[in-house]
Amino acid sequence: MYDFKIEAADKATLYRDIASALEGLVAGEPDGIANMANAAALIWESLPDINWVGFYRNVGGELIVGPFQGRPACIRIAFGSGVCGVAASSREVQLVEDVHAFPGHIACDSASNSEIVVPIVGADGELLGVLDIDSPKHARFDAEDRAGVVRLAEIMARSI
Ligand code: SME
Repeated sequence: MYDFKIEAADKATLYRDIASALEGLVAGEPDGIANMANAAALIWESLPDINWVGFYRNVGGELIVGPFQGRPACIRIAFGSGVCGVAASSREVQLVEDVHAFPGHIACDSASNSEIVVPIVGADGELLGVLDIDSPKHARFDAEDRAGVVRLAEIMARSI
């Protein structure tokens, strides 16, 4: 078992420490499922105020849930549907302060109030999937979270 004990005073340091731990976890491991599983566990342990973190994988143009932490989630999401589906189809980060105001939001856990979804794009430009993090707090995620989670998604793009 790994014990990273990540407790940073500010968000930039927190994400730097998570990214550094993630680089270490995936180094030399070619199995994408293993890497997604450890990434979800690391983020779950390290980020405060979240109730779901995990991956949806692009399987033939449809998102299918991958390794995650939190309550059991919707299994399949069409591109363009909900926050994850819009992130997949637009390939743009979705930072949603109030998920209840997001058209078509898919409520897997009624406790979720805000959310960030970051596309994971491989070296060949293909969409590999998305990294989804939910919070019970309204407007939990800001520009610093966005930069930090994008960095984590970049690491995962080389690791799945
Ligand atoms: N809220 C997401 C669905 C996935 S769950 O949050 C795990 C969405 O609308 O894409």
